[in-house]
Amino acid sequence: MQKRQIIIDTDPGQDDAMAILLALGSPEDIDLLGITCVAGNVPLALTHKNARITCEVAGRPDVPVFAGCDVPLDRPLVTAEHVHGKTGLDGPELWEPKMPLTDGHAVDFIIHSLRRHAPGTVTLATLGPLTNIGAAFRKAPDIIDRVQEVVMMGGAYFEVGNITPAAEFNIYVDPEAAEIVFKSGAPITVMPLDVTHKALATKPRIEAFRALNNKVGTFAAEMLDFFERFDIEKYGSEGGPLHDPCVIAYLIRPELFRGKQVNVEVETQSDLTRGMTVADWWRVTDRAPNAMFMDQVDADGFFSLLTERLARL
Ligand code: BDR
Ligand code: CA
Repeated sequence: MQKRQIIIDTDPGQDDAMAILLALGSPEDIDLLGITCVAGNVPLALTHKNARITCEVAGRPDVPVFAGCDVPLDRPLVTAEHVHGKTGLDGPELWEPKMPLTDGHAVDFIIHSLRRHAPGTVTLATLGPLTNIGAAFRKAPDIIDRVQEVVMMGGAYFEVGNITPAAEFNIYVDPEAAEIVFKSGAPITVMPLDVTHKALATKPRIEAFRALNNKVGTFAAEMLDFFERFDIEKYGSEGGPLHDPCVIAYLIRPELFRGKQVNVEVETQSDLTRGMTVADWWRVTDRAPNAMFMDQVDADGFFSLLTERLARL
């Protein structure tokens, strides 16, 4: 695989933090241009703090971290402290990060990065609501053709929803932004709940992180000790789903995932089904496919990769 230049757009969140650590542990596969933060799991002031804490845990205070949109494009913010805790990163003892935010707005960084690099060489790895990306596409439509790929954690088809019976959290929070992205024509790969609910951080997998005996492994295990509680209670599953690292794992080892090229549309009107990703999985319409929608993951391969890469940090 060729090394990918990426921007991680994120709202950390324990699983976002795991995704950032996977990227930082994979310098031969991933050139991380910057991290752009968005409001989502918790308000913006906490997501950019958590992104910087995560970089510091990995010993990478040099990574540019930008603050982005603090509310969705057309709606008030909905957050998920009930899943991630009050800080968004509950579990380990947290601290005030020493590394500063990088000057400038996340949306402008996304625009300038896509304009500065050759067309088709920058991938947007999105781990939260799509507000920053939607705002960038709206403000600078010329960048859309320059995107190599949008690889997103968001949506669901067979698993339907986690924040409402019909919708996955990232799409639910900003369905208008998601609609802009799905209608943009940029190449899109989606890691929906159908995949991420198969990537469970079970006790033995968490213990494998703890056994790394480095700062990152301990931090990961302490985050996931907290994170698993919610899903075990809610779904009766064996552990919390590691949603967001699926995006980064796909960029490193795409063969771990399988899916179908389908049409995906986002519900923005209905109160009942707001944020639903209507995926034409069975191709029953003539709507043109606009996304690679994954539904399978080799979970053992995924966790081996994650453990191996965290071991290096
Ligand atoms: C998504 O929502 C957030 O809670 C997680 O970080 C993930 O990005 C899962 O629905
Ligand atoms: Ca997230």
